[in-house]
Amino acid sequence: MHTISCMIPIYIYMGFLLLASSTILVASQTIVENLPGYPGPLPFKLETGYIGVGEEEAVQLFYYFVESEGNPDEDPLIIWLAGGPGCGTLRAFFYEIGPMRIRYGSYMDNVPALELDPNSWTKVANVIYLDAPTLTGYSYTKTPETMFSSDISSATQTAEFLRKFVKSHPKFLKNPMYVTGISYSGIIIPIITEELYKGNEEGLEPVVNIQGYMGGNPLTDKTGDINSRLEYAYRMAFISRELYEATKTNCHGDYAEVDSNDLLCMSHIDEVNKRVEGINIQQILDPDCDPATNLVRSENPIISGNRKSLRSINPMKMLPEQSFHKDTFCRGDYYNYATLWANDENVIKALNVRKGTVKEWLLCNLDMKYNYGKPSMPLYEFNVDSSVVYHEKLSKRKCRALIFSGDHDMMVPHVGTHNWISSLNLTITESNWDAWYSNGQNAGYKTTYARDNYSLVFATVKGAGHTAPEFKPEECFHMVKRWFANRPI
Ligand SMILES: *[C@@H]1O[C@H](CO)[C@@H](O)[C@H](O)[C@H]1NC(C)=O
Ligand SMILES: *[C@@H]1O[C@H](CO)[C@@H](O)[C@H](O)[C@H]1NC(C)=O
Repeated sequence: MHTISCMIPIYIYMGFLLLASSTILVASQTIVENLPGYPGPLPFKLETGYIGVGEEEAVQLFYYFVESEGNPDEDPLIIWLAGGPGCGTLRAFFYEIGPMRIRYGSYMDNVPALELDPNSWTKVANVIYLDAPTLTGYSYTKTPETMFSSDISSATQTAEFLRKFVKSHPKFLKNPMYVTGISYSGIIIPIITEELYKGNEEGLEPVVNIQGYMGGNPLTDKTGDINSRLEYAYRMAFISRELYEATKTNCHGDYAEVDSNDLLCMSHIDEVNKRVEGINIQQILDPDCDPATNLVRSENPIISGNRKSLRSINPMKMLPEQSFHKDTFCRGDYYNYATLWANDENVIKALNVRKGTVKEWLLCNLDMKYNYGKPSMPLYEFNVDSSVVYHEKLSKRKCRALIFSGDHDMMVPHVGTHNWISSLNLTITESNWDAWYSNGQNAGYKTTYARDNYSLVFATVKGAGHTAPEFKPEECFHMVKRWFANRPI
């Protein structure tokens, strides 16, 4: 057995062992009836498992699948991708779209206690939570060549995963399928969706009932999205009109890749950065717990708040009530509970994670994390700069799209998202920046677009940060419930 743990310290490579024993890895689906931290049997149907993709199925993608608690026969089948790239999908499972939440301050079975999420999307959809690309969450690879992923390879593998998933779950072949996710997934969601349509045309089996896609604060046009932070900073009153206009003029609209010899532009960027440097760009109202995330620093983490591995934390020091009421509430602290839970031996056993495949579960694998301006990370190549062209392709199909933006996110601001949507030249239909409601209250603004058999809804989520459902779970739940039911949101 080789170990290449010198290269990638967090994973032990066990390829040959697994290849040699691959014949015994037949049972790759497990029905999970109990989870450590939750009292009694789960009131929803949870399955976990692996599906092998790529050459010789060397990439083993781990998933959690929760059957709809509404009408599983007819509700949509959605796949949720967590972004990063490299973030485990458990993040969505606990913090974004349900079905469970962590009860901060309570422990059970030696792990953080869990409770049901009343706004779980699993009430209206069959949800696959996928750890993708490989080496994310509990996913692993059997050969060294397949450890490295890219935007394109990740999209191709996820499309393959989905086709294989419905093949092994034929009950869901006819349910409308949507590709969904958040943040960095915005780059690959439209690529996966287009591949599924194309695969159907090319005769791949089984034919999947792909109907569309959804993205939350989706990174899409990397340069355009980051450039839009300047206008966002102005609109949110972080910089003056004069500074905004002077910066725009002197930098000619390009702030993401400023030529450092352009002193005039640089001096304006410095002035802007001075004013935004204390702002938490994931949720501008939250305290800034991360290192300065300025407008145009090369450090532009799309997902942050997960710098520490579990090893550097003493679990006994995680005093939740205290952190709840601390003056500086740090959302990142909460993510450590997932890490604590996911690395517990009994949890790993309950989820039927294959022994020895993942040495330590990480919220996000930092060897893949997106870094603006870098072409790659040790385990990932960023080979798609913009996925707008895929939205364009999809706009010629029979396809539905929902794009939502927490309007308090300065990481992938709604300003940039609205810009690329406008660039598609779709026709605005019934709503043009009209309010939408949740519990009778204004929950944000929506614009509806169409071209032939394509429709797109763009919605802001008022007050939400980068991962909108994490900040406004009830509003987001109402929004998707209506969208899945083909109703106006
Ligand atoms: C949208 O319209 C503009 C202006 O007419 C044009 O330059 C651009 O190519 C169009 N984009 C698409 C995607 O059709
Ligand atoms: C829209 O879909 C209908 C029904 O599938 C089809 O007949 C029509 O050609 C499509 N229109 C365009 C412009 O693609």
